[in-house]
Amino acid sequence: PNEPPVVFHWFPIIGSTITYGMDPPRFFKENREKYGDCFTFILLGKKTTVYVGPKGNDFILNGKIRDVCAEDIYTVLTTPVFGKDVVYDCPNSKLMEQKKFMKVALTTDAFRSYVPIISDEVVSYFKRSPDFKGKSGIVNLPPKMAQITIFTASHALQGKEIRDKFDESLADLYHDLDMGFTPVNFMLHWAPLPWNKRRDHAQRTVAKIYMDTIKARRERGETGAQDIMYHLMNSSYKNGTKVPDHEIAHMMIALLMAGQHSSSSTSSWIMLRLASRPDIMEALYQEQVDNLGADLPPLTYESLQKLPLNQAIVKETLRLHAPIHSIMRAVKQPMPVPGTKFVIPTNHVLLAAPGVSASDPQYFPEPDLWEPRRWFKESPLAPTIVREGKAGIGAPEEDDGEEKIDYGYGLVSKGAASPYLPFGAGRHRCIGEYFANVQLQTIVAMTVRMFKFKNVDGSNNVIGTDYASLFSRPLEPAPIYWEKRDK
Ligand code: HEM
Repeated sequence: PNEPPVVFHWFPIIGSTITYGMDPPRFFKENREKYGDCFTFILLGKKTTVYVGPKGNDFILNGKIRDVCAEDIYTVLTTPVFGKDVVYDCPNSKLMEQKKFMKVALTTDAFRSYVPIISDEVVSYFKRSPDFKGKSGIVNLPPKMAQITIFTASHALQGKEIRDKFDESLADLYHDLDMGFTPVNFMLHWAPLPWNKRRDHAQRTVAKIYMDTIKARRERGETGAQDIMYHLMNSSYKNGTKVPDHEIAHMMIALLMAGQHSSSSTSSWIMLRLASRPDIMEALYQEQVDNLGADLPPLTYESLQKLPLNQAIVKETLRLHAPIHSIMRAVKQPMPVPGTKFVIPTNHVLLAAPGVSASDPQYFPEPDLWEPRRWFKESPLAPTIVREGKAGIGAPEEDDGEEKIDYGYGLVSKGAASPYLPFGAGRHRCIGEYFANVQLQTIVAMTVRMFKFKNVDGSNNVIGTDYASLFSRPLEPAPIYWEKRDK
């Protein structure tokens, strides 16, 4: 009786699955106009309650652990891919401890060492890739950005030994693992289908590669590289048990998978947006010349801080192209929605879609315009009432003056009532935000040094979005015209 309104549909079970699946942001926008910020739709037979806007973001993402549950939803997809006993295949308190272990390797000092690693990977990729031979050409960009993402992330986060394996066995194995993340697996995760068999084989093989590496490092008594694996090998849970090797291996898989899709999609969008706005690509180059020096010295963590436009590019692209469009939670107790008469019953799933408020004219003037300079305070398009943590790459340990809460993996902003949350909020908030910023900003800065991009037809158009997999990304082919900058 006090449930939110249900989106009109002709067929039970199917409900709104098709219209939602084809274009989730449009589905949210249209139904918000009809039903308000909080409404229910049928997704594969499941009553799914959307609550958009800053209040909705807060209600869902800051939900209490006794009210909302992420693992009930995600485990069927993630556990066969990551492996047992990590992330959503363990109690939430254990995930909070695991996030803390993983975060240790994501400090300012670590980032300082990552910037040169990432720059070198970008330059060497463009130099050796047959698609970028000669002075100019046309290339379908997203697959190239996917490769740059995996080479840079694996090298920075998992070390050179693992990175080199991506030139051989690991690339195909991760591809097979990836097939486990297809949305039909929400229903068919258990089925002995060809892609699931390959997924299971790949999980065992990749886990073994990591476990063998752990053993070898332990036998060598290695104290050298203080990378994530090193930190996990030396971490213990609060109850005193050391993190077992299979859990370290599974966390290594989870870390790389968590970052890969979101960062790769974001870097593709950035490059496609730059091709649609060559003037901004030129401004980025000029910013480096002005702020770092005409000789463009090797990029460092410190130099990234001197490039506000370069930082704003990432922020603005995530505003319009956040790769995670729907964040879901199971409802564990009837949840009254503050300020309304609604109560969400336990047979519903809650869905947060921070992308809706990120493109709402109430907060972002001319919301559909991709305009990185809107993040500069003096811009006429500057967002209103956006709770702003540190912009750009800001070190995680820096204080941004906000009230914080500790879920066990470090301090997180207490309120989630923000219209701009591409990295989520609350206990499940992203731990990879700062890494992703360092990685993406470095990729952009180095690409801008080497290339000029434009659309093949010279227009300012951008390609549409592919919502068919779990993480949204540009539709393909997404060709661009590139030209080498002559130094
Ligand atoms: C969680 C976005 C990169 C690791 C999340 C969540 C979002 C997100 C929205 C919350 C999910 C939820 O509440 O259900 C992004 C975006 C990225 C990015 C937009 C890049 C542009 C990364 C990277 C890593 C990473 C590079 C690893 C180094 C994680 C982890 C979680 C998470 C471990 C926690 C999951 C949980 O606690 O349930 N991310 N992410 N992410 N992300 Fe990211």
